[in-house]
Amino acid sequence: MSQPHHIPTGQGRIQIQGVSKGFAQPGSSAPQQVLSDVSLSLRHGELVCLLGASGCGKSTLLNLVAGFEQPDSGRLLCDGHPITGPGPERGMVFQQPTLFPWLSVRQNVGFGPRMAGQRAADYAARADEFLRLVGLADFADHQPWQLSGGMRQRAALARAWLPEPEILLMDEPFGALDAQTRLAMQELLTHIWQHKRTTILFVTHDVDEALFLADRVVLLSSRPGRVREELPVPFERPRSFADLVADPRFGALKRDILHVLREEAAKSLQGVAA
Ligand SMILES: Nc1ncnc2c1ncn2[C@@H]1O[C@H](COP(=O)(O)OP(=O)(O)OP(=O)(O)O)[C@@H](O)[C@H]1O
Ligand SMILES: [Mg+2]
Repeated sequence: MSQPHHIPTGQGRIQIQGVSKGFAQPGSSAPQQVLSDVSLSLRHGELVCLLGASGCGKSTLLNLVAGFEQPDSGRLLCDGHPITGPGPERGMVFQQPTLFPWLSVRQNVGFGPRMAGQRAADYAARADEFLRLVGLADFADHQPWQLSGGMRQRAALARAWLPEPEILLMDEPFGALDAQTRLAMQELLTHIWQHKRTTILFVTHDVDEALFLADRVVLLSSRPGRVREELPVPFERPRSFADLVADPRFGALKRDILHVLREEAAKSLQGVAA
């Protein structure tokens, strides 16, 4: 495995410039075009939600920013430096919490610093701070299988945030949770984010979630994904969902976003039928 590629300057700005990406398809000489000429920038500390039909390339775009994949053309920059591989300044949270079953919750949360060669004494206090922030202080010595799904995702969130990344890439992290737990996680995420001011690129299928979390919502077209629309989200923070749904701008924005998403989903289904 290649060495982590640490980009040093510490702002968490992301620039995606004219990025295209295709993948080889079994039984075909032509690659499947997944992203086409995608350009998008995230400012320091901005929370951007990415929405689009299934298969339009959202996870692929996150994998490119994470440095797990390379674009076919275009450039990805982090604080002005080309992204050539994964690095500790960019953390990732997946839809399914990927905790190691043989490690305790505390050991899972401290996994990154431990793999980076730090001594437990150097990160134990921060691990405890994050366990407290996500409400798992009393479960630090439990094993992952002794936790509920929502608690596991909270542990995964603490683990991703412990190395204090400048950027967090979140791929439908709350998609598998029930509505109540999901709302609690959204509140928790914005609470920590407002303290830490991490730049976040967050993929979701849930329009309410996007409008609750985001400074800006980016809609991708159906595959090959390109930026179809960018919408600023005007609501003040801290937000409460009750206030949001009472705000007429919320209904109007939601209607506009759903309209675009339905149009794009119909296009991708036409592609399946063809
Ligand atoms: N490593 C890979 N190798 C080959 N094809 C891939 C690879 N990763 C993604 N794809 C293809 O790229 C397309 C987009 O996939 P991606 O996972 O980015 O979509 P998505 O927008 O995240 O969808 P969903 O909303 O369902 O998660 C799909 O057709 C998928 O088959
Ligand atoms: Mg995906």
